[in-house]
Amino acid sequence: MVGVASAALGPFPDGRRGRAPDTGGMNALVLYETKYGNTEKVAEAIALALQESMPTRLEAVAEIDDCEEALRDVSLLVVGGPTHRHGVSTVLRETLRCLGGRALDGVRVATFDTRLHGPRVVTGSAAVRLARLLRHDGAWIVVPPASFLVDGGEGPLDPGEEERAHAWAYEVLQAAGIRPHVHA
Ligand SMILES: Cc1cc2nc3c(=O)[nH]c(=O)nc-3n(C[C@H](O)[C@H](O)[C@H](O)COP(=O)(O)O)c2cc1C
Repeated sequence: MVGVASAALGPFPDGRRGRAPDTGGMNALVLYETKYGNTEKVAEAIALALQESMPTRLEAVAEIDDCEEALRDVSLLVVGGPTHRHGVSTVLRETLRCLGGRALDGVRVATFDTRLHGPRVVTGSAAVRLARLLRHDGAWIVVPPASFLVDGGEGPLDPGEEERAHAWAYEVLQAAGIRPHVHA
């Protein structure tokens, strides 16, 4: 596990601390599940991009014991996991169970997964299933679900996928109505 997990990210790469652009009190949470570490790498790339524009936490579902607490003050939730048996892994699905009762009303949400090469109809997609599940809990899905590809069950990620995840995070910000912060 890399050091940024399970904590508020920061300081910023240029040494600033706590001076993300004013997002009106909006906070982001990147929540992920991983078996072999590939989805974690994607989640980290996403969190690092979001952090440039808003306070961002990166959490593995295994570390969450109070779901309600984890979601407190979160206005942008990005959730991802590996595609297992065409859908969401059991661990991630169990964690998300705590989100019942429209717990995500008004929360902007984006979902992603890692999966094998091939057409989505063949491989399935955890991200698509996640979006469907979370919409039931009141989530406002701001962008289409995204898949990042692995070369075999244990990975590695295809070349360029972490960069693509970083770029996708900017799309998420824009769709959520948060202007991505552009470094000079
Ligand atoms: C039990 C199991 C079931 C899987 N089923 C699928 C599947 O239906 N479709 C797919 O594209 N990949 C499938 N995979 C491969 C995973 O997508 C791959 O292991 C994952 O993307 C790696 O991410 P991780 O390193 O974060 O665990 C499966 C892997 C496991 C362990």
